[in-house]
Amino acid sequence: MQPPVDELEFGPLRAARAEPHSRLHDTIADRTRRMYDLLAGVYPASTYFFHSNAHQSALKMSGVTDGMRVLEIATGSGEMFRRLAGNNGSGQTLGIDISPRMAAKTQRSVRAQYPSAKTHCHAVDARHLPFRDESFDAIFCCYLFELLGTEDVLCTLEEIRRVLRPRGMFTTILIGQNSDVFNKAYQVAASVIPSFWGRQVEASMPALIESLDFTIVGDQSSWQSGYPSRVLCCRKE
Ligand SMILES: C[S@@+](CC[C@H](N)C(=O)[O-])C[C@H]1O[C@@H](n2cnc3c(N)ncnc32)[C@H](O)[C@@H]1O
Repeated sequence: MQPPVDELEFGPLRAARAEPHSRLHDTIADRTRRMYDLLAGVYPASTYFFHSNAHQSALKMSGVTDGMRVLEIATGSGEMFRRLAGNNGSGQTLGIDISPRMAAKTQRSVRAQYPSAKTHCHAVDARHLPFRDESFDAIFCCYLFELLGTEDVLCTLEEIRRVLRPRGMFTTILIGQNSDVFNKAYQVAASVIPSFWGRQVEASMPALIESLDFTIVGDQSSWQSGYPSRVLCCRKE
């Protein structure tokens, strides 16, 4: 019998230390990049219908103020990134996404909407962030962890911790697991296209995040068009 899709593709989610970056392994990440590259043109619809309310809550809960140095990891087509840039006219807003087409789309749209804001979005893998230690006041990462294998979740969290300043705020949005009906539908969808849907990880993430010496200071669940989200605001200790 085949193992369940999440263990086959991603590995079981458990608390463990990440592998050193020099040993970044081949995972589903290549397929994820190709999948999101392919969908970059239509992806804004998904964000509009399912993610925008949680994005709005995440920005509000994060306490981010104008003038900060802000990083968004996995910008997708840039809906949250434009919110962040619009809120940060005199600061710096940087974004990354593993998909070059998503990163380019985000860069184009933010430049068009906020031409004078200091913004940059690059095609970069979250598992190895090309930034100095403690270089950001705030970091956002929305709907990414579902797409990463176990070791990649850990190594991405460690990278986030490394580049965030002490007492800086890391805000993440996860796909909620609080509805059996949604969970069943998600499992079916994920078994058909794992590189798009990944696997649900929300229930395991608070303990993992806290094990890396963050304190969860905000936690809010919400629904939009039948799609559950959970926002966590985590302060680096
Ligand atoms: C589900 S979408 C979420 C997009 C956006 N954050 C939002 O809230 O709508 C996931 C995004 O993560 C990106 N991604 C997947 N793996 C990544 C990685 N290892 N590093 C950076 N981005 C990644 C994908 O290319 C895709 O744009």
